[in-house]
Amino acid sequence: MGRLKDLRAVVEERLKEVEDAGKRNSALVHLYGVSLAATLIARKRGLDPELASMAAMLHDLAAYLSGSYEDHAHRGADLARQILNEMKITSSDETETICSMIYHHDDKHTVDSEMDEVLKDADVIHHCFHDLSKPVKEKEQKRYDALVEEFGLNGKGEL
Ligand SMILES: [Fe+2]
Ligand SMILES: [Fe+2]
Repeated sequence: MGRLKDLRAVVEERLKEVEDAGKRNSALVHLYGVSLAATLIARKRGLDPELASMAAMLHDLAAYLSGSYEDHAHRGADLARQILNEMKITSSDETETICSMIYHHDDKHTVDSEMDEVLKDADVIHHCFHDLSKPVKEKEQKRYDALVEEFGLNGKGEL
């Protein structure tokens, strides 16, 4: 998976623009956390784990670089397209898939394509499982419950 490694290097380089070390660290933790979750979810659902992981690495980059979550999913899709076009590591279909995933990732109440759903669910997994002492957000509760069911995460040791 050389291109995933290359993309991660580019994302890490861009994140150096974030001056606050704490924010930079949080960004890396979240992007890598969602990337791993996206890989697992895609693998489980028979979808492309590499593309899922690549989309996850890019999904909140625009928010981190601008310091604002305003319209960050749509801005994030534009930034992802720009980075992927410059890197020339994806086919046009793959670029469309990744940009669609990022574009829709904040629409947690709606259901979009299978790959779009992978990124939304991976985002929810990281938000909820990064620290189990924090309450699940209302807008993520339904997805959280469905993921607990799908992955047998009810703590009872059975699927
Ligand atoms: Fe986001
Ligand atoms: Fe996110």
